[in-house]
Amino acid sequence: RLLIIDFGSQVTQLIARRLRELKVYCEIHPFNRVDDAFLKSFAPQAVIFSGGPASVFAEGAPMPPASVFELGVPILGICYGQQVMMHCLGGRVERGHGTAEFGRAFVTPTEHRHEILDGWFTEDGREQVWMSHGDHVSKLAPGFQVLATSPGAPYAITADPARRFFAVQFHPEVHHTPKGTKLLENFVRIAGFVGDWTMASFREDAIEKIRAQVGDKRVICGLSGGVDSSVTAVLIHQAIGDQLTCVFVDHGLLRLGEAEEVVSMFRDHYNIPLIHADESELFLSALEGVSDPEVKRKTIGKLFIDVFQREAAKIEGAEFLAQGTLYPDVIESVSFSGGPSVTIKSHHNVGGLPEKMGLKLVEPLRELFKDEVRALGRELGLPESFIRRHPFPGPGLAIRCPGEITREKLDILRKADAIYIDQIRKHGLYDEIWQAFAAILPVRTVGVMGDGRTYDYALALRAVTSVDGMTADYYPFSHDFLGETATRIINEVPGINRVMYDVTSKPPGTIELE
Ligand code: XMP
Repeated sequence: RLLIIDFGSQVTQLIARRLRELKVYCEIHPFNRVDDAFLKSFAPQAVIFSGGPASVFAEGAPMPPASVFELGVPILGICYGQQVMMHCLGGRVERGHGTAEFGRAFVTPTEHRHEILDGWFTEDGREQVWMSHGDHVSKLAPGFQVLATSPGAPYAITADPARRFFAVQFHPEVHHTPKGTKLLENFVRIAGFVGDWTMASFREDAIEKIRAQVGDKRVICGLSGGVDSSVTAVLIHQAIGDQLTCVFVDHGLLRLGEAEEVVSMFRDHYNIPLIHADESELFLSALEGVSDPEVKRKTIGKLFIDVFQREAAKIEGAEFLAQGTLYPDVIESVSFSGGPSVTIKSHHNVGGLPEKMGLKLVEPLRELFKDEVRALGRELGLPESFIRRHPFPGPGLAIRCPGEITREKLDILRKADAIYIDQIRKHGLYDEIWQAFAAILPVRTVGVMGDGRTYDYALALRAVTSVDGMTADYYPFSHDFLGETATRIINEVPGINRVMYDVTSKPPGTIELE
């Protein structure tokens, strides 16, 4: 495996993404967690130093332990990582003074050739790279030679062939460096990786790790019906069988047929012991008369934890709680505000519960990115339609029913939402859309149906495209699609007589209405 030492670059995660795409297993660890003992136990087959915002001249500048250079394994330094290498190995780094480069630059090869640049320079002899640096290397460390230069970075690509150390001033991990992945591919080949890290091998390793961690103890897993918790449950069940019990807290705010689907899939299809805590009455009574979005969320969150805790307590001898925590949630980010420090972002689906209940965590997905979780789901035989499902928020339909929530409104909303999603699937648009749903508005309007007057709810349809849910664009449905969908909903769902399409992007809107 490969170790990425993080010096705080905004794009360190991209290095890991690129390496995973090359089927090389790697982990990111912040520089201040990497010491001699860590290196010894991690035993990396190669090391990459990430970029970072610091200057090697700054007091307490982030540095790797000197022993990293004695491991005898290939090292690649990127941007700040290059400066660190030169600084530590006897070269020189200088302050910017007008040589700072940000953005696109072109590098050209020197007379030195090396396989790290296989597949790089073609006839016209230059290649685009993405630079972002203030300081730059002004003298190479002994043993290094220059393989390529750019106008602002005379030492754009450097190598010490004997020690297999490589140092580049630009960022090979970003898309603006078109041949960057090729450089990383050459680096891992030089380090002897054969690219055999696949989901099948991950699954086998994960199963062994779960067995080793859990032994003959019992595990509880909160199931939401989402991809992460489902993959977690199925994987753990494959590892330890019925030592696993899933708890599905049904708050009565799920979509049409959703609770039944979760129960039948896990209990009947996968034969996983499942407690279905049907608590819709409890949640809906607590939400009666509540229309403030934050109060809704807090009410649901608190009740959820109460119910989960109560159900989990019934499982005798449980020592572990399984969670579908993903890699982006656990990477320790290096922060430089007020000196190097480490902040840990940790995702607790049932926040604070493990400590409260004295349970230890099992988090088998904590090394995976979202798309890798989907690949693992396929490997585990979860249905494709399930793996590709749009995200669904924890508070469920409560935040798609602005204003006061009533059972009547929820019923209407479920039916309308199901027709909308059916339309999207029929038109083959589901996979192009990040998220699509209907929301019932807290307003009734007048209409006419047949010869009669109607006075019914208005429905908003929402559909957005997005990469990560942080920003989003509304989806440009055709007028035909919208017209046909509105007609179906109004004809088939009593209680709705008007349909609007939400054309707000995020920002300024959020994806959900509350
Ligand atoms: P917003 O509405 O903030 O949503 O633009 C961004 C993404 O997050 C989802 N979302 C939630 N997911 N619990 C969740 O698990 C929540 O409380 C929650 N609120 C919003 C939303 O569906 C979208 O994908």
